[in-house]
This record gives sequence, structure tokens and C-alpha cells, in this order.
Amino acid sequence: MAVTYLLEDQEKDVTVAYFSLLADKITFNPEEKAVWNRLNRNIPNPKRRRNYPALKIGRLAVNENYVGEGIGTFVLDSIKYAFTTVKRLGCRFLTVDALKSATHFYEKNGFLFFTEQDKHDETRLMFFDLKNFV
Ligand SMILES: CC(C)(COP(=O)(O)OP(=O)(O)OC[C@H]1O[C@@H](n2cnc3c(N)ncnc32)[C@H](O)[C@@H]1OP(=O)(O)O)[C@@H](O)C(=O)NCCC(=O)NCCS
Repeated sequence: MAVTYLLEDQEKDVTVAYFSLLADKITFNPEEKAVWNRLNRNIPNPKRRRNYPALKIGRLAVNENYVGEGIGTFVLDSIKYAFTTVKRLGCRFLTVDALKSATHFYEKNGFLFFTEQDKHDETRLMFFDLKNFV
């Protein structure tokens, strides 16, 4: 169900990064009212819902020879740009099931944790409000 994209260095014939995108939704969790209130803060009352359409980053990996050079951030910024400015899909949030080792990377890129209930899991659900990308 996901679409995978490659970022290539054509001169060197190397795949620098790849990522995949798929449709998702964010659903109200009554046990995480504080997060939900924060998430709803920028949404006018008549438009508030218990579910919001989202775009999930299914996989994201940077070639180990290119790690730490801003490529991951470039990929996230490109996705944010494409789905706000180019508007290829009507969705409000990006989501990711972030590996524990990568949560700091996503935090640095403006993603928030959706729940505290997964804090001992291998992956944590994080989201980014595309409204914050202007
Ligand atoms: C996580 C990953 C995509 C980051 O890509 P990247 O190109 O190295 O990231 P950037 O260079 O854009 O880094 C942006 C910031 O996040 C930080 N960061 C990146 N990866 C990090 C990590 N694994 N742990 C902690 N911080 C990290 C960087 O230090 C940088 O912070 P700075 O601006 O203060 O220097 C890449 O390391 C990777 O492919 N890891 C293996 C696969 C993986 O974990 N994918 C995520 C699956 S959900």
C-alpha cells in the first residue's frame, strides 16, 4: 500500500536515501486528552473531528555514508513542502512509527509524541502538524 521514493546521487550511481509514504489517520485517544487538545488548538471548532487524515512515513533511511549531513532533514522538509505547497493530498498531519533510536531526529524536525503509552515500545507514534510548516 505504500509508495517508495529513492533519492539518488546520479553521478556516483548511489542511493542516498529512501522513504515510503502511505495514507494514515490520527484517532482521538481519550487517555491522551492533553495531546489531543494541543493538536486541536490550531483547528477551528466546526472543523474538529475525532479522526484526521494523515500521511504516514512508512520507512526512512539514509545511506550510512551520508548520515549526519542533513539528508534526513532534507527528506522531511521535502515531504512537508510537497504536502503543504504542492498539496498532492488533503491531509493535515504527518505520522511516523519512529524507532526509539530515531525519535530524537524526529523531535529535532518538529514531531511530537502522540502518547506516553508506547514509551517502552520499540517504536513510538509521533506526528507533525503540517500547519506548522510555512
Ligand atoms: C535517522 C536518520 C534517517 C537521520 O538522517 P540524517 O540524514 O543522518 O539526519 P540529519 O543529518 O538531517 O540530522 C538532523 C538532526 O537529527 C539528529 N539525529 C539524526 N539521527 C539521529 C539519531 N539516530 N539519534 C539522535 N539524533 C539524530 C542529528 O544530530 C541532527 O541534529 P543537529 O541538527 O543538532 O546536528 C538516519 O540516521 C538513518 O537512516 N538511520 C537508520 C534508519 C532509521 O533509524 N530510520 C528511521 C526509522 S523511523
